[in-house]
Amino acid sequence: MNLAECKIINLEKISDPRGNLTFIEGHKHVPFDIKRVYYVYDVPGGSERGGHAHKCLKQLVIALSGSFDIILNDGMDKKTFHLSRSYYGLYICPMIWREMNNFSSNSVCLVLASNEYSEEDYYRNFESYMQDRWSPKNWV
Ligand code: TYD
Repeated sequence: MNLAECKIINLEKISDPRGNLTFIEGHKHVPFDIKRVYYVYDVPGGSERGGHAHKCLKQLVIALSGSFDIILNDGMDKKTFHLSRSYYGLYICPMIWREMNNFSSNSVCLVLASNEYSEEDYYRNFESYMQDRWSPKNWV
């Protein structure tokens, strides 16, 4: 459950003069079963999203259209990923704090998630996250 596990997954791209196609299958292209799909769109310029971590949720984030930055932080290391291609997915493992910014106009952020929505699964306070992240019960 640290930053080293979070990585860009290169999704398959079927190139075609009529338009490209990318497909995703749970457990084959992403390391979890997909239980939920959501997308963020109509993001006003200068907006910041995220600002939380998940206790158990695994996610794959894709810039379906446009681009944005995701800053991942596990309390020790911090890394910025610039997503700008529909065939790149950023895998985010549990217990990673994330911020999202630098959304281009008309960007669409698609998220595949390993579980249904549950507010209980969120840390929305960085200090609480850090406390649990580095408590002995969560040492990995
Ligand atoms: P949040 O996860 O904080 O969005 P982001 O990380 O993109 O900034 O969710 C924003 C709001 O939407 C929050 O009130 C919870 C709600 N929400 C749902 O009801 N269902 C969902 O599947 C998601 C992802 C969020």
